[in-house]
Amino acid sequence: MEPLRFNNIYLGDAKDILPRVEDESVDLIMTSPPYAEKRKKSYGGIPENEYIDWFMPIAREFKRVLQPKGSFVLNIKEGANVQRETYVIELILELKRQGWLWTEEYIWYKTASMPGKWPNRFRDSWERCLHFTKNKKFNMYQDSVRVPIGDWSKTRLNNLKSYDKKRTISASKSGLGRKVMNWKGRDLVYPDNVLKFAPVCKNMRHSAAYPKELPLWFIKLFTKKGDIVLDPFIGSGTTGLACLESNRNFIGMEIKRKYFNLANKNIQLEQQRLINDEKK
Ligand SMILES: C[S@@+](CC[C@H](N)C(=O)[O-])C[C@H]1O[C@@H](n2cnc3c(N)ncnc32)[C@H](O)[C@@H]1O
Repeated sequence: MEPLRFNNIYLGDAKDILPRVEDESVDLIMTSPPYAEKRKKSYGGIPENEYIDWFMPIAREFKRVLQPKGSFVLNIKEGANVQRETYVIELILELKRQGWLWTEEYIWYKTASMPGKWPNRFRDSWERCLHFTKNKKFNMYQDSVRVPIGDWSKTRLNNLKSYDKKRTISASKSGLGRKVMNWKGRDLVYPDNVLKFAPVCKNMRHSAAYPKELPLWFIKLFTKKGDIVLDPFIGSGTTGLACLESNRNFIGMEIKRKYFNLANKNIQLEQQRLINDEKK
């Protein structure tokens, strides 16, 4: 079988293309698959009760192609009607049974979402970004996603109490501790696990595109320049755009010709833009 080329998108079903990816060759799998029952008209929704059977053979391929210190980030959200669907919870359990460690859950809080009224709940303005790894030790470049320390430092760090000057152990008995004084004089700190990015849709001409900032954040956190990122459900090509911007390589897959063409166009435009920027 011919190996896949980097910075290329392949047209077809991910389950048929994934076997062409070499063992342990990918540093990060960053993807947003079709959600159950969603977008039946655009790209066919998988029924909720078939979702696990559909996803698990693909996840087995993910496990084969991911390098031992790599990460798999799954952006997904269960829908709701009378009550919430449970397939994402079942999927997490099934992935754990397959041998994945469910290392963390990040929340994508969709800022600037439109107002609305529902009879039994409020607007759903967050999605899950589930972080799975193959091992306890994995590549994580925490400094690459540091954020400005914020105004709290002006009051809190200028008014240190005696207990801020020594390491205090968390009351939750997690074994973790902190020493507030350590942050004095610093401009940047580590972020929390709630990511605040505005949603996009129309300008990407894909109804379920995520904003480039979302994959970019995980790419910076879990890979370094030159690493390989796989998105087997690449849609409009957003993960590829984030890779171009951050000098990572990507492999994309997309089942629908319409989105395959769109993704290729978006990638070409971005490549051209980067060349023009370099010439300036
Ligand atoms: C949630 S969208 C991904 C959107 C993408 N993150 C973006 O920003 O544009 C899921 C995509 O997976 C594609 N897809 C669905 N089933 C697939 C399969 N079996 N193999 C490859 N792609 C598939 C859909 O056509 C759709 O474009």
